Amino acid sequence: MLDYVDKMILAPMVRIGTLPMRLLALRYGADIVYCEELVDVKLLRSKRIENNLLGTVDYVDMTDGTVVFRTCAEEAGKVVLQIGTCCADRAAKIVDKFQGDVAGFDVNMGCPKEFSLKGGMGAALLDHPDKIQAILSNMIRHSKIPVTCKIRVKPCLEETKKLVKLISATGVAAIGVHGRTKDERPKHENRNDYIAALTEVSHVPLIANGGSKEIASFEDILKFKASTKAASVMIARAAEWNCSVFRREGMLSVDQVIRDYLMLCVDFDNQSNNSKYAVQNMLGNMQHTSVEGVATLKAQTLEELCSIWKLEEYFKSVHDDRMLDAIKLGPGPETDL
Ligand code: FNR
Repeated sequence: MLDYVDKMILAPMVRIGTLPMRLLALRYGADIVYCEELVDVKLLRSKRIENNLLGTVDYVDMTDGTVVFRTCAEEAGKVVLQIGTCCADRAAKIVDKFQGDVAGFDVNMGCPKEFSLKGGMGAALLDHPDKIQAILSNMIRHSKIPVTCKIRVKPCLEETKKLVKLISATGVAAIGVHGRTKDERPKHENRNDYIAALTEVSHVPLIANGGSKEIASFEDILKFKASTKAASVMIARAAEWNCSVFRREGMLSVDQVIRDYLMLCVDFDNQSNNSKYAVQNMLGNMQHTSVEGVATLKAQTLEELCSIWKLEEYFKSVHDDRMLDAIKLGPGPETDL
């Protein structure tokens, strides 16, 4: 069973936290990995398929054949499914449907984007303690595995303390706390002092988040943990830029991380546009200043991305092996779609 003490966690990140990035984070040293936020209705209309060719379990959107959520044995016991929801009934249905394939559930209560706020999800929940209570209690009633949520702080520390007390009384296993308010942006200082104060009132472990601006190495993660007094830490942007920040042995070059990431994309047949987006984020300014960066911007397929990063042989050998396996396995889930 997952516990949330002394853990290094990959934060949920839309379009970044798909299976290859989660496995990369685990291989570099993360203890727990959150998937990107997935909205409840999308999860509920997906169909579970065992993909024998890739060795994965896929939840597929039957309206367009896209993979909503893909997981595999390597992340078993370590992957947390983060959901976007405003509905206690749908949240419980997700628990029923997914609990055999993930290690924990998390509810996003911090997203400040219009899409979430208009739908009553994400940070909109912070002003509705009754809804928070209903969603979490219902999930916990249905769940055999831990349930957590990820919040932002409120401008008033005392109000945030009240919220944390209320949430910790629902029976959650931990609470993720991003030290910025709903209206604050990444340029604003993270309120590490708020998180430290919240640890004094919470009955469950707190997971500190929001420190990426201060994090450029594994040691910085430890400093962030110490300054927030939290039980665990959750890293988003620092890992998005260079996931090897989780390595206790020291960071790797961005080039190396991109290659490690792309190999996992090939292994798990990650969507090319998703793979490209993650690589672009790792490149940052180098997208425009390096030869590989400029070529990456033009790439349209995973094969093209691989050849830019000198992985054409790897791509070809995995693909050839997969074709042979497909012939041996006969018609499988992919042909069912
Ligand atoms: C995010 N964040 C986010 N949060 C969340 O709860 N669910 C999500 O799906 C996402 N998606 C997402 C995508 C991207 C590209 C970024 C950069 C961020 C917020 C994230 O988890 C985290 O709370 C903030 O980025 C602050 O932490 P860092 O970046 O300072 O470590």
